[in-house]
Amino acid sequence: MEHIYKYIEDHATQESEALKWVAKQTHLRTNHARMLSGSIQGELLRIIVQTSGAKRILELGTFTGYSAISLASALPSDGHLDTLELNDELEDLILEGFERAGLDEIIELHIGDCKETLRKLRVEIGLDQNSTASDSSRLYDIVYMDANKREYCEYYELVFDMVRPGGLILADNVLWDGKVCQDPLPQDKQTLGIARFNDMVSSDPRVESVILPLRDGLNVIRKK
Ligand SMILES: C[S@@+](CC[C@H](N)C(=O)[O-])C[C@H]1O[C@@H](n2cnc3c(N)ncnc32)[C@H](O)[C@@H]1O
Repeated sequence: MEHIYKYIEDHATQESEALKWVAKQTHLRTNHARMLSGSIQGELLRIIVQTSGAKRILELGTFTGYSAISLASALPSDGHLDTLELNDELEDLILEGFERAGLDEIIELHIGDCKETLRKLRVEIGLDQNSTASDSSRLYDIVYMDANKREYCEYYELVFDMVRPGGLILADNVLWDGKVCQDPLPQDKQTLGIARFNDMVSSDPRVESVILPLRDGLNVIRKK
């Protein structure tokens, strides 16, 4: 598989200087470089934003900012991306990458547990019981889900009405190294969380969806 990905990488649009910098710093300064979305998925995300004309994006799981930069690089100058990350030790690296990419004006980093941040954003949009009026202009065109795999079902429930009709929810790592297809199903919490999520999406009549076998699997979900 490695040589196929190398071939695909060599034949895709090359990553920007800012993305190269983020990838290099991630390798130098963290022990989890394998969590990077990487250049193939980054380019796909950028093209999806570009062709869909998205203006508002929500990302769960910033890590070092690679996918946030890929997504935001195709937003118009009045676009906005909210990205949510738990690990405050990554903050300086993330913000430097956004600045180098010239995207610090349109990307907003929210440090904290994403479920708590989502609840706050829901109130701001006016989607909670205590809210007085909802503001449909603040609904998202795209949600990119890439945080804690055990919590994908909860994220889906929290973000669903934050997405406009016709908008997309993109969920990463939904094949989980092929474990979701194994019989018997491995009983670790991540595999169970993702398997439950894929079942939930495929039986949800409010959406249409397909899993792309790209890297670790990308579930592309369109809200009807
Ligand atoms: C797979 S990485 C994200 C990779 C990133 N999207 C990219 O392409 O470079 C997952 C990230 O989610 C963060 N995370 C895990 N649980 C979280 C939570 N409850 N709230 C916010 N972020 C969380 C982790 O700290 C980690 O940085």
